[in-house]
Amino acid sequence: MVEISSASESNKPKEASLILDKDYVISRVDDRLYGSFVEHLGRSVYGGIYDPGNPKSDQNGFRQDVIRMVKGLSVPLVRYPGGNFVSGFNWEDSIGPVEQRPRRLDLAWATTETNEFGLHEFCEWAKQANTQVMYAINLGTRGIDAARNIVEYANHPGGTFWSDLRKKNGAEQPLGIKLWCLGNEMDGPWQIGQKTAYEYGRLANESAKVMKWVDPSIEVVACGSSAYDMPTFGDWEMEMLDLCYENVDYVSLHRYYQNQIHDTASFLAKSVDMDSFIKTVVSICDAIGGKKHNKKKLNLSFDEWNVWYHSVDQDKEIQANNRWGRGLHLLEDVYNFEDALLVGGMLITLLKNSDRVKIACLAQLVNVIAPIMTSSTGCWAQTIYWPFMHVSAYGRGQALQPIIKCENYSAKEADDVPLIDAAAVMGDDSSLTIFVLNRSMDQQVALTCDLRAFPTTECKEHILLHHSDVNPSNNEQNPDEVRPQTIRDWKEDQGKFAVELLPLSWNVFRFSTRDS
Ligand code: AHR
Repeated sequence: MVEISSASESNKPKEASLILDKDYVISRVDDRLYGSFVEHLGRSVYGGIYDPGNPKSDQNGFRQDVIRMVKGLSVPLVRYPGGNFVSGFNWEDSIGPVEQRPRRLDLAWATTETNEFGLHEFCEWAKQANTQVMYAINLGTRGIDAARNIVEYANHPGGTFWSDLRKKNGAEQPLGIKLWCLGNEMDGPWQIGQKTAYEYGRLANESAKVMKWVDPSIEVVACGSSAYDMPTFGDWEMEMLDLCYENVDYVSLHRYYQNQIHDTASFLAKSVDMDSFIKTVVSICDAIGGKKHNKKKLNLSFDEWNVWYHSVDQDKEIQANNRWGRGLHLLEDVYNFEDALLVGGMLITLLKNSDRVKIACLAQLVNVIAPIMTSSTGCWAQTIYWPFMHVSAYGRGQALQPIIKCENYSAKEADDVPLIDAAAVMGDDSSLTIFVLNRSMDQQVALTCDLRAFPTTECKEHILLHHSDVNPSNNEQNPDEVRPQTIRDWKEDQGKFAVELLPLSWNVFRFSTRDS
């Protein structure tokens, strides 16, 4: 029997239980679930990953302190070069001798793009950062011709105009880019070259077709709606997938959450909304596949997700006063503790849907709505760095479906929200990790886990991210204000595990089992 520590009736913790079984497998987690995103925007590239002349940069201009922090997140792929930026971008501007590359107006972010950092530089950076490139092509102002040419340039071995040009530009071997996004948010009025679902579906289909003729080993992602609350959501997916289902491999989802009304309880429920977004897109994909009698299951690429709202007013001012500037402090959200909790919740949602979500990109990686921030003198982890790091490190293997029983709550903008949410992953070494979010604003939750289906489990570590207040954030002077700690506060007995979860806490429980 597990004894949960006694407490007086008034402050008695809420109770919750979780059952886990080896056989409740959701799916093998695709490592690409822990991808990220670097866009030519603000200080993501210039002053972020690339900072020539800075003492912390190498001879390529790559910030080594940033690379170390990126490696700390074990990011398997990075989407590049946009985002909205890509819809007005000529990829050819970013190759060849740097001094001959054109300076262009970037209409997406009202800045000047020098093209000093381009395709080869990014591929080189990705190698150093131990990650793969997910490359987005421009289907805003460009089309099929540019699409097939860049695949030939990047992936064809040699003996043709574009592949030989790549060699001349210094890459004898193909760049080997395996994953391609067919444009970005093409339904958005803010997008350069916005399309109707019909226009986009046709263009995506023809682009995918010829890109795969050049290199049949690549995979491509079609643009879903740019958000769940777009007026065209649903119709967009149905019409465009009807036109390109056979030639595409994934459909994209994008979602950013805000806490404009300063209601933490509603804000932390947003990961439930994310879950319903995913399930709706899965249903649409399957409906189209079914209608076509196509046995292929279309999977999802959640290639932009995060919290984004803190910097919106500041951005308007910066853009108004610095039109066509460079390296501006754009989209520099400073994340607080509650943002880290929601990011943890969103990661749980991704894991629970890992049978269909195969790719996901935390948007973005450095400085721009990012887990990693830089100044000219150093870099530091924002609050959201930590849950992402935990799940990327320990969330690899088989995702298991926990059966959770707990109380629900209602808030200003959400009803029936479970107090706790959890995901579990069994590693290939038979280690077991359970990620648990306690959404309760003020109450501890006494959680009992029934792990009887695992031969012998032993908890090795409880990693806790908690703060007494939701607002604190990290900065260069105080980088450790919100930081995880390792504690020993559980009780275990014959396959039962009990712990009291602090209110508003992110928890990672790491177990070894007999086989590990
Ligand atoms: O990540 C910032 C922007 O958000 C991207 O450029 C765009 O795709 C999305 O709207």
